[in-house]
Amino acid sequence: MSVLSGKKILLGVTAGIAAYKTAFLVRLFIKAGAQVKVIMTPAAKEFVTPLTLSTLSKNEVVSSFTKEEDHGNQWNNHVELGLWADYMIIAPATANTLSKMAGGHSDNFLMATYLSAKCPVFFAPAMDLDMYKHPSTKENFAKLISFGNVMIPATSGELASGLTGEGRMAEPEDIVAFIEDHLIKDLPLYNKKVLITAGPTYEAIDPVRFIGNHSSGKMGFELAAAAHDAGADVILISGPTHLEKPRERIKLVRVQSAREMFEAATKAFPEVDIAIASAAVSDYRPKISADQKIKKTGETMQLELVKNPDILAALGEAKKDQLLVGFALETENEEENAAGKLKRKNLDFIVLNSLNDKGAGFKSNTNKIKILFRNGAGKNFDLKTKKEVAADILNEIIILSNA
Ligand code: C5P
Repeated sequence: MSVLSGKKILLGVTAGIAAYKTAFLVRLFIKAGAQVKVIMTPAAKEFVTPLTLSTLSKNEVVSSFTKEEDHGNQWNNHVELGLWADYMIIAPATANTLSKMAGGHSDNFLMATYLSAKCPVFFAPAMDLDMYKHPSTKENFAKLISFGNVMIPATSGELASGLTGEGRMAEPEDIVAFIEDHLIKDLPLYNKKVLITAGPTYEAIDPVRFIGNHSSGKMGFELAAAAHDAGADVILISGPTHLEKPRERIKLVRVQSAREMFEAATKAFPEVDIAIASAAVSDYRPKISADQKIKKTGETMQLELVKNPDILAALGEAKKDQLLVGFALETENEEENAAGKLKRKNLDFIVLNSLNDKGAGFKSNTNKIKILFRNGAGKNFDLKTKKEVAADILNEIIILSNA
């Protein structure tokens, strides 16, 4: 999922030949999951039609302070639009518009909105090579950057004038990639690697039977999505579940047994900054897994079980400066048992969910948790969706990793 998903983008289109490319730009923003509203300067309408951009953006295009269809009797509110936006992008940004932005001139609706906007502003210049090189243009770039606006540099190539040089507006794909890269760097877990274990494990009795449990993997998959959306590189090691990889960029390793999960998790652990063990690992496995399907013979049958490795405890032992989080599902002496695990497994915090709480636990979409910290502090949370619980857990991780 793009960092632009769910974001509100205000696109300012000014009068340069590159304006025709904004149709593609709007499409790409929409494809990334953003909401888009377009403002055009009056002259920009000579280069691309408002109808094209309103159809693609699914919103009306604004280009003056009054609504034309109401014969100018109704006001377009630049302040409201400026405050609506999460990001404002001015593309193409002509030399004329850049100079107005730098000087604070508010002689059209786009400029008034630019001056009202409190959100981050990106601008993608487009002009002929000599205009791009002119000291006044360079001074305007520097001034806008000093205001905190972000420049998406023009590229070199053939220009509308027939000359070749610097001044071509960056291609729409490159504008979107530039903005995404820029925003990812501001995310709280940017540059962090996060390991998450999820789901049940299946311990083979024979080729067709296993010992397993009812874990759906939902909590771990929601945690993986939340960590990804917070900017982290995520490796998700999951036992058998029907869930699909929640985000394209997540590395999903599918395993069956506790020993396979142990191998994958301990191998990945030295490289990560944060590990969250949300898997419901089988504590025991059959001592012998039969090669052939076991035949029905006597009235009773003995199955000898041996202990599985404790993955989280092994990570706790190997821990250097990683942040380590575990889960505890308890039915009695909940807090005491969870606190014991927190210490024994060398965790930074443990997420306690109790089967005594209605709506908490394995297959449901909701969960009610309490977090116990290393220093003995505890935090109670309300019954929430697993998605919201994942956000709460990630929030505590972000607080600790920035402390
Ligand atoms: O000791 P208990 O199984 O209750 O601990 C639960 C926590 O330990 C969970 O975070 C679970 O993912 C992890 N765990 C593990 N490997 C095991 C057993 C539990 O990683 N073999």
